[in-house]
Amino acid sequence: MSKEAAGIVADAIRAKPNLVLGLATGSTPLGMYKELIRIHKEEGLDFSQVVTFNLDEFCGVSPNDKQSYHYYMYENLFSHININPQNIHIPDGNVEEAEEFCRIYDKMIEEHGPIDLQVLGIGRNGHIGFNEPADKLAVDTHVTPLAEETRRVISNFFDKWENVPKKAITMGLGAIMKAKKILLLANGKKKVDIMRKFIKDRHVTTKLPASFLHLHPNVTVVMDKEAAG
Ligand code: F6R
Repeated sequence: MSKEAAGIVADAIRAKPNLVLGLATGSTPLGMYKELIRIHKEEGLDFSQVVTFNLDEFCGVSPNDKQSYHYYMYENLFSHININPQNIHIPDGNVEEAEEFCRIYDKMIEEHGPIDLQVLGIGRNGHIGFNEPADKLAVDTHVTPLAEETRRVISNFFDKWENVPKKAITMGLGAIMKAKKILLLANGKKKVDIMRKFIKDRHVTTKLPASFLHLHPNVTVVMDKEAAG
C-alpha cells in the first residue's frame, strides 16, 4: 500500500513540480512518507516547489508537542525532504481566534488550490479528516469535537485520558471534494469493516463521511490485503 501510494504521489509531483498536495497524518500514511523520503534521497524527487496543506490538527496542542500533527509531519516527512517551509500549511490548533484562523486557512487553500492531490486515511467510524459522523457535515474548515471512538484510538499517543484532545481543527468536506484527485489509503484488519461498508454500500450519508467520496470523479483507493479482507 505504501509503495503504491508513494508512487502515485511521486508521479504527480514529477508531472507537476508545483503540485498542491493535501496530506493526512495518523498511522496509515507513515509507510508512504518513508517511501517518499527514499524516493527523494535515492531518485532525487524534488519537493522544492510542492505546496502542502494538512487536513487537521488537534486543538490545545502546541506545534512543538510530540503529539501534534505539526510535529508528526516534520518528524515523518518534512525534515527529510527539500520542501520549502513557506509552502507548508498545517492548521494551528493553538490559536486563540480559531474561527478566524479557519477562514484564513480556507482562503489559503483557495489561493493555491484547488488541491491537486489529496491523500486521505479513513477512521474506523468512516471519518475523513476529522469530519466525524453527524447529522450535518461542514463544508469549510472548522473546529470539531472528536468522536469518543476517535479519542480512544488516539489515546495511545497521550500519557493520560484527560490529555487526549477533545477537539480538532479540520478541513471540511468542501476543500476535500474540490481536490482534483483523491487518494484514499487503508491498511490493517481494523479497517476491514469500514472499507466493506464504504465500498459496498453505495449510498451517501453524513453518518459515514467517506461515503461522499462516491460523488467525486477521481478517487483512487489503495488498501493492503488485510484492509481488503
Ligand atoms: C489524520 C486524519 C484522520 C486519519 C484517520 C485514520 O490526519 O485526517 O482522518 O486519517 O483517523 O487514522 P489512522 O491512519 O491512524 O488509522
